[in-house]
Amino acid sequence: MYEIGLLQVAGAALVLLFFVLLNILLSSSMNTELIVENTDDYAITIPKVFFEVSNNYQQSVMKWQDQYSRGVCLFAGHRYKSSADDPSVFSSTVFPSNSKQQPSVGNGYLATVIYSNTVYVNGLYNGKGTSSHRARVPSTAAITASLQESPVSASHFYILDVAKGVFVHQITTGDVKVSHTTYAHQVLNRLLVNQIIISRTSNKSDEVTVKLDTNSLPNSTDINFKENPLKDNIRSMQGGIIVPEHDSTQVVTAYVYWTDVPSCITLPKDVSARQYNFITSISKTSGDEAYYFYTEGLKMTANNELYQNHVAAWETKWRNGHIDIDNVYLSRIIYSTMYYILSSLPPLNTTGRLDFPFYGLAPGGLANGGGNQDYMGHVFWDQETWMYPPILLFHPNLAKSMLSSRTRHIDAARNIAKCNGYNGTMYPWEMAYSGYDVCPDRTVGKFEQHVNGDIAYALQQYVRMTEDVQFLLEENGFDLAKGLAEFWYSRVYNISMTKYGVMGVMPPDEYHENVNNSVYTNMVAKISLLLPKQLAQMLNTSVPECWSDVGNQMYIPYDSSLKYHPEYDGYQLGTVVKQADAILLQFPLMYDMPDDVQVNDLLLYETYKGKPVTNPDGPAMTWAMFTINWLKLKNFTKAYDVFNKTFANIQEPFMTWTENPDGTGAVNFQTGMGGFLQTITFGFGGIRIKSCLEFDFVLPPKSTTFNITGLNYLSSSLNFVARETSLSITLTEDNYRSIIPSLQLIVSKTETYDLKLGKTVKIARVPARICKKQNV
Ligand SMILES: *[C@@H]1O[C@H](CO)[C@@H](O)[C@H](O)[C@H]1NC(C)=O
Ligand SMILES: *[C@@H]1O[C@H](CO)[C@@H](O)[C@H](O)[C@H]1NC(C)=O
Ligand SMILES: *[C@@H]1O[C@H](CO)[C@@H](O)[C@H](O)[C@H]1NC(C)=O
Ligand SMILES: *[C@@H]1O[C@H](CO)[C@@H](O)[C@H](O)[C@H]1NC(C)=O
Ligand SMILES: *[C@@H]1O[C@H](CO)[C@@H](O)[C@H](O)[C@H]1NC(C)=O
Ligand SMILES: *[C@@H]1O[C@H](CO)[C@@H](O)[C@H](O)[C@H]1NC(C)=O
Ligand SMILES: *[C@@H]1O[C@H](CO)[C@@H](O)[C@H](O)[C@H]1NC(C)=O
Ligand SMILES: *[C@@H]1O[C@H](CO)[C@@H](O)[C@H](O)[C@H]1NC(C)=O
Ligand SMILES: *[C@@H]1O[C@H](CO)[C@@H](O)[C@H](O)[C@H]1NC(C)=O
Ligand SMILES: *[C@@H]1O[C@H](CO)[C@@H](O)[C@H](O)[C@H]1NC(C)=O
Repeated sequence: MYEIGLLQVAGAALVLLFFVLLNILLSSSMNTELIVENTDDYAITIPKVFFEVSNNYQQSVMKWQDQYSRGVCLFAGHRYKSSADDPSVFSSTVFPSNSKQQPSVGNGYLATVIYSNTVYVNGLYNGKGTSSHRARVPSTAAITASLQESPVSASHFYILDVAKGVFVHQITTGDVKVSHTTYAHQVLNRLLVNQIIISRTSNKSDEVTVKLDTNSLPNSTDINFKENPLKDNIRSMQGGIIVPEHDSTQVVTAYVYWTDVPSCITLPKDVSARQYNFITSISKTSGDEAYYFYTEGLKMTANNELYQNHVAAWETKWRNGHIDIDNVYLSRIIYSTMYYILSSLPPLNTTGRLDFPFYGLAPGGLANGGGNQDYMGHVFWDQETWMYPPILLFHPNLAKSMLSSRTRHIDAARNIAKCNGYNGTMYPWEMAYSGYDVCPDRTVGKFEQHVNGDIAYALQQYVRMTEDVQFLLEENGFDLAKGLAEFWYSRVYNISMTKYGVMGVMPPDEYHENVNNSVYTNMVAKISLLLPKQLAQMLNTSVPECWSDVGNQMYIPYDSSLKYHPEYDGYQLGTVVKQADAILLQFPLMYDMPDDVQVNDLLLYETYKGKPVTNPDGPAMTWAMFTINWLKLKNFTKAYDVFNKTFANIQEPFMTWTENPDGTGAVNFQTGMGGFLQTITFGFGGIRIKSCLEFDFVLPPKSTTFNITGLNYLSSSLNFVARETSLSITLTEDNYRSIIPSLQLIVSKTETYDLKLGKTVKIARVPARICKKQNV
């Protein structure tokens, strides 16, 4: 697997060079056109097996290789031996025609699959109730560039650079280079930008014409768009969605401003280079807002600020959190999965006009989910249980945005509980815009209720990582915890005097509906019932004791003769299950059990009497949890064996994920990506978020260093460098209240260290934990 990966990387070798722009002048004829002298961005080293490149060009590549320098090197702290080792650049000489392999750009407000005719906007859905799906905004940003007179020797490269958050199409001949960059702006988050630079690479000075084709229809079956008359080169349209999701929701209107795209652009004779910017601005708040962002973007095209500001924001994001392993194949998966999830979440800085309400992360990300595809962009437990944990480790603010997609709908959840005869808040299995149930499968929608415990668990982990009292008190976090406990309190039934269970649910294993006492569901109900009291202690207040009393008495099904956890009442050994279920008790839920019981659960739910129990063709995230749990047991043979199953879901060249290993199911399957990132952090990193932050680093296969940079614990930032025999920990930011030093590294009772800002502590690579320094 790894060897194949490496060959693929080598085959697509390329180098990214420093972007140098000199003497940029604003052209008077067209606002969005810049004249550039001397540009270079991506230069390409092409293996000889493909085709020859001119001497001149090779020399320029060599020259630039000397000065090789780029974002990923800056934040990874070292240079890669060659460009093929750079894990943040994905490239191909052809753009895949299979939509499952096509990459996307996004910023949490909007997103698009490259060259597709559609843009999706966070929270913009069309369709009543269970037919609610992402509303299609016809893309005004899907531009394909080609040379009008294209010599046979013209070469094409398609590059996804996740360090910079851009997609680049590069056309090169001996004389000309066209660099077409598409990005969803990381600061001005209502914008999609196409930047095209035409530059000369030889002394030939002929006119060069680049054809621009657009891939858009003026209409949408989801939104009644009306286009306005063209004004100053700017086109605009607006329209309301056709059918609102729920009686309680209004018709949402989308407003679009975009630069008119001509059918061709020309580099005049004797001009050495020219840059063009085509901007699309979308707002679902107002036309004024769309226009404001459009003009802000336009202003920033001068001095190339628009592009640089975008790249700087991505680089800051990566600098604040990244993982490096000297196994290139794994590193490529880490960077790409992190990129796809981050590009469906809001940017880090959303102050003032940049802010927007976040409606949640769907299994296919923001770039997918139209029609009846990719779960229609609905939000499931996938958000809290799969994508959220690795994001929480690095970006607590983004984790909070995900939780806010739930607090935003507390009223809807209260109504849902009431309609079903329960108290508190009951979140639906699938939600979209209104917070009301939009699950098209009525059986699943009715029975799969564990999402209400998954949300509580995510909140508990958030509070342990951040102690964010403000979120609890001022942003409905505490209300969320109380509402969920109240729901489960009204939902449980009395098995005996001291035993409570939950009847009639569908567990994560969706092959079984309407079962009693799903072990996973009971466990998350227990967590939900215990959470408010834990929070109340922190907040110096109190909550009804009955919640925690029942929580302490939740029935967790256990077979004491076979020493394993039956998935539900009456589960028969060998019954095939869809995906990881009972084994989730170990991780993520951290339920304490003896090692032999852990082993039994892992073995009995993998195969029974030689036959698979967990469907080997099931969804991508399952094997991540098996891997994490085997790693905890230090059984590396089993861990690597199951870890290996993850890779089948990844589609080259841009490392998109399909839901199932045979290429079927939802794309671009972020649930599987989240599972993979958890394997790295919670599996190989051994991280556990308890009353302290625990970890137990293991080097991933074929690696000698494993670094986690920018882990954010209690407002402090930590770097970890794990090697064969050592673990180094550096505190790079210390903001925990005003107690300094605030954190302590505890290896054993007798080996403890105060973590001091900027100082590295080096210990043996053994389990350890970082705790708040008490009583200082
Ligand atoms: C291009 O022009 C420069 C300066 O006039 C000259 O030094 C160089 O040799 C020329 N290159 C080619 C490939 O003709
Ligand atoms: C959209 O416009 C195209 C071209 O004008 C037309 O063929 C198509 O039927 C229209 N579709 C809808 C849904 O109006
Ligand atoms: C991890 O960090 C160390 C120390 O900065 C560095 O020497 C090593 O190359 C890094 N490993 C990777 C894979 O980036
Ligand atoms: C966030 O963006 C605003 C507006 O662009 C800017 O004024 C502010 O300095 C930024 N804050 C940070 C922390 O970068
Ligand atoms: C809901 O709460 C009310 C008032 O506390 C209580 O009377 C009722 O029994 C509760 N309903 C359920 C289903 O627990
Ligand atoms: C559960 O049942 C026992 C009796 O079997 C009773 O004493 C207890 O109050 C019940 N608890 C609730 C919450 O109904
Ligand atoms: C769940 O429990 C109820 C009440 O005891 C019972 O009627 C029902 O058959 C049980 N369901 C299953 C699947 O065992
Ligand atoms: C709770 O009480 C402690 C001790 O009096 C105090 O330090 C802390 O700030 C209080 N917390 C809140 C959220 O009020
Ligand atoms: C790992 O687990 C398998 C299956 O239980 C077992 O056969 C093997 O001996 C274990 N290996 C180690 C090193 O514990
Ligand atoms: C992963 O599986 C492939 C076969 O599918 C095998 O060739 C490879 O050695 C395995 N890798 C590991 C690390 O187990």
